[in-house]
Amino acid sequence: MKLDNVLVLGGSGFIGRHLTAELVRRGMRVTAPARRRERAKHLILLPTVDVVEADINQHDVLERLARGQDAVINLVGILHGDFERAHAELPLAIVGACRAAGVKRLLHMSALGASPDAPSEYQRTKAKGEQAVLGAEDLHVTVFRPSVVFGPEDKFLNRFATMARLLPVLAVPCPSARFQPVYVGDVARAMAVALADTETYGQRYDLGGPQEYTLKQLVELVCLFTHRRRLVIGLPPRLSYLQAWMLEHLPGKLMTRDNYRSMQVPNTTNAEWPLGAERHSLEAIAPAYLAPSGPRERYPQLRWRARR
Ligand SMILES: NC(=O)c1ccc[n+]([C@@H]2O[C@H](COP(=O)([O-])OP(=O)(O)OC[C@H]3O[C@@H](n4cnc5c(N)ncnc54)[C@H](OP(=O)(O)O)[C@@H]3O)[C@@H](O)[C@H]2O)c1
Repeated sequence: MKLDNVLVLGGSGFIGRHLTAELVRRGMRVTAPARRRERAKHLILLPTVDVVEADINQHDVLERLARGQDAVINLVGILHGDFERAHAELPLAIVGACRAAGVKRLLHMSALGASPDAPSEYQRTKAKGEQAVLGAEDLHVTVFRPSVVFGPEDKFLNRFATMARLLPVLAVPCPSARFQPVYVGDVARAMAVALADTETYGQRYDLGGPQEYTLKQLVELVCLFTHRRRLVIGLPPRLSYLQAWMLEHLPGKLMTRDNYRSMQVPNTTNAEWPLGAERHSLEAIAPAYLAPSGPRERYPQLRWRARR
């Protein structure tokens, strides 16, 4: 199968930037539509990437973008907002656009825990998206279901790092919620390898990192990597829910009740790592991008070392 031209939807996001770079490294030409071009300016610097400003929620736009492509990759996802639209209706529209444009290969990003009877709407609508794409038997579809993804620019560990910088005490909601963080470079490589691998047609892959952690352990690790000695306390269920409710009503929605619900089931997998190559551990990667770098940032670390 020819794989010269790939349309990456959601390419402006965190995973999108790493996957696009991986595809470019492999000699592919990538089209990355973005609702606001400046959100994707980091992609413009890559040699074989076309960033186009477009609203992919309009059916004719999707079909026009899909024409002439050898594959489509859907990375669009949200943590709050109109889940039904982004996670269920859009994948259906993408299937329609692929058919209309004659594109056979589709890679779709779901999430670990996606299930019709999951506790959160995020996970239930992700399951609908999986159904929509895997139900298209005339297409060659592969679905990926990562646990929380980490790497430079991630919104998960970096957020805790910011909190550790600003706050003396970190109150962690759902402290025993379980995660299996997976490195963004490993996710991008797995997807890029799968693209040309016919064995992956019709398959769903759970993607978890080499080790499981509770949320509290992850926050403690972030404090360690950022050299901040902080008191990390786990909130009991009612206070966790209250914190989610309060944050949901603040700008930026750092957490929502739906996020709280998604943490009621372990975000872990026993599945073997697919598509070859070793996975990178959190300990091997995260300190490099979380550790304080500027002299101001290093000051607390120096004080800590000097026991002052
Ligand atoms: N990061 C993780 O830990 C993680 C874990 C499991 C699964 N996933 C899944 O992996 C995918 C990528 O995640 P990410 O971390 O890279 O997310 P991200 O950084 O928030 O990027 C999301 C992308 O989706 C686009 N998007 C969102 N809503 C859209 C809409 N209504 N119409 C068009 N585009 C829209 C965004 O475009 P704009 O730039 O225009 O906003 C952005 O390019 C998502 O499907 C997510 O659910 C992520």
